[in-house]
Amino acid sequence: MGERADISRLPDPRLTVAGRYDRVVAAGVGRVWENVLDWEHLPALHHGQFHSIDLLDSGPWGWRASVVNQPGDVARAQVIEVRIDRDAGRYCSATVEGPGAGSEIWTTLTPLSADRTAVAVTFHVAEDRPERLARIGERYVAIYAGLWDEDEAMMVHRERALANRRRSSAASVEPLNLGPLSSLLTTLPRLVEFGGERFRLLALEGELIAHAATCPHWLGPLDDATVEDGCIRCPWHDYRFDIRTGASADGRGLVLARAPRVSVETGDVILSAAPAFP
Ligand code: FES
Ligand SMILES: [Fe+2]
Repeated sequence: MGERADISRLPDPRLTVAGRYDRVVAAGVGRVWENVLDWEHLPALHHGQFHSIDLLDSGPWGWRASVVNQPGDVARAQVIEVRIDRDAGRYCSATVEGPGAGSEIWTTLTPLSADRTAVAVTFHVAEDRPERLARIGERYVAIYAGLWDEDEAMMVHRERALANRRRSSAASVEPLNLGPLSSLLTTLPRLVEFGGERFRLLALEGELIAHAATCPHWLGPLDDATVEDGCIRCPWHDYRFDIRTGASADGRGLVLARAPRVSVETGDVILSAAPAFP
C-alpha cells in the first residue's frame, strides 16, 4: 500500500503545478464537504470518468478507495486517497497507487454565502516538461469542469429536495382523480404529487404503477430512471429498487416511500392512500 497523503503539509514540492481550476458553486460549504466525503457517488454520478469503486478505508479524515476508470481497466486500477482539513478549508486528492501515482490535487473551499462556495483547485504532477504539463493541465481542467458541473447539479437538487421534504410533512392524502384512463395513458410516464411526495406513474406490462420519484438514500431524482426487469437505479449512487414493491433490489435495505394505490373507477384513474399493511 502506498504512502498516505498528509494533509498537514503543503503539496509535495517535487511536483509541478500543471494547471488550476476556479469556480463558484451554488451550494453551501457544508453541502460541498458532504459531497467530498461521499466516495460512493463517483461511478454513478460521474460514470463518464469512473467505472467502479471499492472503498478501502474511511473516517473523519477522508477516504481511500480503489478506482477503475473504464470497463476492462481493472488491471489499471488506481488507489485514490482524499484527505480533508476542514479547519483550513482544503483537501487533497492523491493518487497513491496505479497510473498517475504520486500526483496530488489540492482543493480549497471558501464559503461565500449560505448557498455559494468558491472552489479553487490546483493539479500537481510528477512532470516538468512544459508541453506535457500544459496538455495534462488542460485535460485536468476539462475533467474537473465536468465533475463540478455534475456535483453542483446534485448538491442544488439535494438542497431543494431537503427543503421540500421539510415543507411537505402536513400534505393531504385525499384521493386524487387523474381523469379518464384513455387520455392518461397517452401522457405516461408522468409525475404526480400525492401526500407531499412526488411519484412517477407508468405502465409496466399492462399494469399502471406508481413509484416514489425521490430516492430514500439522499433524495436523488428517480423521475427519469430507466426501468429494467421491474427495477430502477438511482443516478446518484446506483442503489436499485423494485418499482412494484418499493423494496431494495440490491440488498442495501432502503425502501421507496409507499406509493399510492392506483385504481380505475368509472373510467377515471384514482390515486388513494395505500393501506398501511398491504
Ligand atoms: S440518492 Fe443515493 S442512491 Fe439515490
Ligand atoms: Fe463528485
